[in-house]
Amino acid sequence: MMLNLGILTISDKGFKGERDDKSGQVVKDSLAKLGSRVVKYEVVPDELAKIKNKLSQWADEGNLDIILTTGGTGLGPRDVTPEATLSVVDKVVPGIVEVMRAETFKVTPTAILSRAVAGVRGRCLVINLPGSPKAVRECLDAILPVIPHAIEIIKGEVTEHVVDRGRH
Ligand code: MTE
Repeated sequence: MMLNLGILTISDKGFKGERDDKSGQVVKDSLAKLGSRVVKYEVVPDELAKIKNKLSQWADEGNLDIILTTGGTGLGPRDVTPEATLSVVDKVVPGIVEVMRAETFKVTPTAILSRAVAGVRGRCLVINLPGSPKAVRECLDAILPVIPHAIEIIKGEVTEHVVDRGRH
């Protein structure tokens, strides 16, 4: 399966060109392990309306399997990525971000300061990641193995779990 990936980097500094988007690059490199192509990539500032618009436009265009955001998930006054994401998804998927925080907390206790959320809009999975390249790497390592199966279910290509097949 070749995943169609959107990477949305949310950073005031990145948007102004004051910082290279290393985190976006980490997302791209990590997802390449699953077999993916970057279909959409953009850097936007930490502004609710801009994030909402970008997420909903990308998901509604219909050719993206997954959007990974990086940045804006913390406790700072301008961190609004989770609110933007929650306002555009049809369903929330708490388990993905629960495990992300719980697993990476073991190596980096500040992991629990990320308010990242995950959800589904239409046929597109949206997952928030924190902003630093290190955090992106740690968080993706924790959840990467589950992503292909999640996407298959969302697309309706899997109707029952593989291990259940022989039982009926
Ligand atoms: N998660 C992991 N796995 N590793 C990290 O280094 N950094 C944390 C947290 N999550 C971190 C992490 C820190 S210091 C913050 S402030 C929050 O993510 C929010 O980051 P963001 O506002 O850039 O999204």
